[in-house]
Amino acid sequence: MNVESQRNYDLEAAYQEAEQRFTEANPKSQKAYEAACEVMPGGNTRTVLFYPPYPLTLAKGEGCYLWDVDGHKYADFVGEMTAGLYGHSDPRIIGAVKAALDDGITLGGQNTIEAKLAAAVVGRWPSVERVRFCNSGTESNLMAINAARAATGRKKLMAFEGSYHGGVLYFRKGGSPTNAPYDMVIGKHNDAAGAEKLITENGPELAAVIVEPMVGGAGCIPATPEFLQALRRATAAQGVVLIFDEVMTSRLSPGGVQQIHGVLPDLTSFGKYIGGGLTFGAFGGKAEIMDLFDPRRPDVLPHAGTFNQNVLTMSAGLTGLTEIYTPERAVAFNARGDQLRNRLQELADKRGLPVRLTGMGSMMTVHFNRNPVETIYDAYGDNAPAKDLFHLDMIRRDHYVARRGMINLSLPMTEKEFAGLEAAFDAFLEERAPLLEQI
Ligand SMILES: Cc1ncc(COP(=O)(O)O)c(C=O)c1O
Repeated sequence: MNVESQRNYDLEAAYQEAEQRFTEANPKSQKAYEAACEVMPGGNTRTVLFYPPYPLTLAKGEGCYLWDVDGHKYADFVGEMTAGLYGHSDPRIIGAVKAALDDGITLGGQNTIEAKLAAAVVGRWPSVERVRFCNSGTESNLMAINAARAATGRKKLMAFEGSYHGGVLYFRKGGSPTNAPYDMVIGKHNDAAGAEKLITENGPELAAVIVEPMVGGAGCIPATPEFLQALRRATAAQGVVLIFDEVMTSRLSPGGVQQIHGVLPDLTSFGKYIGGGLTFGAFGGKAEIMDLFDPRRPDVLPHAGTFNQNVLTMSAGLTGLTEIYTPERAVAFNARGDQLRNRLQELADKRGLPVRLTGMGSMMTVHFNRNPVETIYDAYGDNAPAKDLFHLDMIRRDHYVARRGMINLSLPMTEKEFAGLEAAFDAFLEERAPLLEQI
């Protein structure tokens, strides 16, 4: 068998060859990785960024493009897992950060911008009457959960299999030993009847139900409106706080997925792009819960955080939300994402390949799966070697996508980049069709 047909006969052989090619093309990244391994476990300080044989070391970003240390240029379809909505160098964001720097860093008092960003958030997401800032999506969720526990006087937390709410709130296949030690009830995402039953059974002990209105990292699997409505109904009946984790999904319409489906949670957590690309988190919602954090109350719930309203994030975030990602822009941008996802699906369907695109608007995931992917359990059946091969093949074609098959659009992208992605995807399908047909 010649090398070409061997490569397309056996997924494992094809992947080995792709890794070898990656290694040959990226010697400086390899060196950087080896140096990092001397001082960080596995050369890494953010698990999701690792992939074998070693990750690219990125040197520079501009617009929606990235350059690695070996000098390759990539169209950036990772989009910093949705935090990179504005791209890497929007002059308005950079101008806002520079202007803030000119007035001094870490002022150690309330500043002139935080309440303006808070007003922009409250004005935008329909269920949010009050908001407080923090530094990450993980922190947003921890604060929302703890607020719910304090408000209800109950202890238990319900989340859904496969969901991710931060580094210490990971609910895939039994969770993680580093999870925060909550007393958990785990439901099935998109199982409306099952969730309603669990909420009713646990009602008197349950403080909160937390849900991703579209499971993001685990495969861009939208919650059905019926599922979200069932959660709303059952939590309201039991006095349980419903938390929507819109850390990723808040960008999917002017007012997030809660606005798309018209289901309003009690609390919402935010993160990612809302800080303009700088470190950010926020949690907000009903005044009756959020006002427990009012420091004028004798029984105030404390909420600390040295950098909660740092001027750099507040300034970049305010400019982004009010001048760049306006409601009109959010609608058009996500409509373009829907078209692109459908187009990629057509390219796979045309060839009769078991490739499925899921997602909403500007976020999507490529699944290699014979069955429809409508739940997290369906996504567990994805063919992992095909996904790994897709990742390295797209990198070889100058398109940076997430190892897990996730693709996130950013605002600097134009028709040129969308056409480039389609062409790279089509070339991948053409080359690998004999392998993909066998999964
Ligand atoms: C849905 C969701 N919630 C929470 C988080 C945690 O955010 P952070 O990484 O800022 O802590 C993430 C991060 O990917 C996320 O996707």
